[in-house]
Amino acid sequence: MLNVFMIGCLVSSAYGADVVLSCFLVEEGGGMMGGMGGGGLFTRTPAMLVLRDLPTASDSDSLDSVTPFNPPEKPSADELIFEVKGSSVEIPDAESLLHADCNEQEVNCEISRYVTRGSDPGARPTHFIASLQVGGEGISLTMVLQVLTNEEAASETPPLMQSKLELPLSQSGTLLTEVVFVVFSRSQSLTAPLGGDTQLDCGFRQQDTPPVGGLGLEWRLQYKGSGHKVLEMSTVEEEAGAGPHVSAGREGASVDPALAVEEGNVSLTLTNLRVADEGTYICTVTSGMFQTQQIVKLHITQPPKVSLSEEKVIYQEEPAQKLSCHCNSYYPLDVEVEWLSISSSEAEPTSITEETSLSSHRQHADGTFSVTAYLLLLLSTHPPGTNITCRVTHQALGSAVDVSTRVLAPETGDNFYGIMISILVVTVGTAVFYQVMGSTV
Ligand SMILES: *[C@@H]1O[C@H](CO)[C@@H](O)[C@H](O)[C@H]1NC(C)=O
Ligand SMILES: *[C@@H]1O[C@H](CO)[C@@H](O)[C@H](O)[C@H]1NC(C)=O
Repeated sequence: MLNVFMIGCLVSSAYGADVVLSCFLVEEGGGMMGGMGGGGLFTRTPAMLVLRDLPTASDSDSLDSVTPFNPPEKPSADELIFEVKGSSVEIPDAESLLHADCNEQEVNCEISRYVTRGSDPGARPTHFIASLQVGGEGISLTMVLQVLTNEEAASETPPLMQSKLELPLSQSGTLLTEVVFVVFSRSQSLTAPLGGDTQLDCGFRQQDTPPVGGLGLEWRLQYKGSGHKVLEMSTVEEEAGAGPHVSAGREGASVDPALAVEEGNVSLTLTNLRVADEGTYICTVTSGMFQTQQIVKLHITQPPKVSLSEEKVIYQEEPAQKLSCHCNSYYPLDVEVEWLSISSSEAEPTSITEETSLSSHRQHADGTFSVTAYLLLLLSTHPPGTNITCRVTHQALGSAVDVSTRVLAPETGDNFYGIMISILVVTVGTAVFYQVMGSTV
């Protein structure tokens, strides 16, 4: 029903372009009607968000074929159309919203009621909050929409009231709003190496500069149900020129106070990353009456150091020879080890079918893991010239890592002690192996 009005994906007007997004109005409660996607505590009603007059780059070719947003011919009290007028608050990366729409990138959009800080739920003007996420690693925006009082409607005919929201609609049947505050992030999920540095992106735009009541910022880390403050910053309105007060709860956590105040850039820099830095970061910006958040997920990775117990294996019929493949100090936990063999007559390595096993994982003090894979190799099926490979796959490795050992022909002649020693090593090794096996079963 709503789609009838979506003439084109992009619509141009005199000042810029309009974007029409399919959204849901999310409301608490609602009993039996609730929970289209599970839950049941919220109701989701289809709604439309029209962003008017977004600025566009003048050389943007893709905007040639656009048609203006057409409001419904006959305004209806049951339609939910949030119209956002071009306003003094810039919508960051508006261009990407325009293109997402045309490139069929999914834009997740939810609108809900918003009560400003320190006011009563019924206070006027009414506010809504719109959360937009451009699919495929796109920008995420949380915008506070302020409902505009409809002055032109002071004519003889009373304005149409939206049936669900009980708010007056414009003459074209839309709820007129403007953006008064935005918090956004251009990357909501990132992966960084252990020991490295990273920056978690978060920014805001606001109407009043400086905001009445000062500016507040908090970065919090949530991990598996517990959380702590990573950094806090505040400016106090009365102390203009005093500069923001920053306190970090983690060594090496910082925000550039000048960038924060001048450009609305409150990105968090973290240096010397540890496993403990992994988790979900919540960037909360408070500006006067408004407070909203963005979420940025940080994943830490460290590739395994892979090595084999033997550089070479001397061929012998009996007994079976034990090989160990060590994968050390990696993160996160999931690692895959495969044993392969390739003889001089084969073109491709094949999977080894003999007995293999894995030690239990050991976790080091720095949070990284180690594991050892064992192979009990029956050399009778692997003649000299064969290579035995341990192949390790882990998300921190671009491609799988191979370490190989070569089966060598036994040295003929007088190397009696060498042979004795290798037999001894193998016997002791096997005994240890069985012991390890026994303790891990
Ligand atoms: C903040 O500044 C950094 C460094 O200049 C930049 O890479 C990042 O995109 C900016 N982020 C926001 C939200 O403005
Ligand atoms: C085994 O490895 C050696 C050294 O890496 C290589 O020169 C040789 O060609 C390999 N043999 C086979 C059968 O792949």
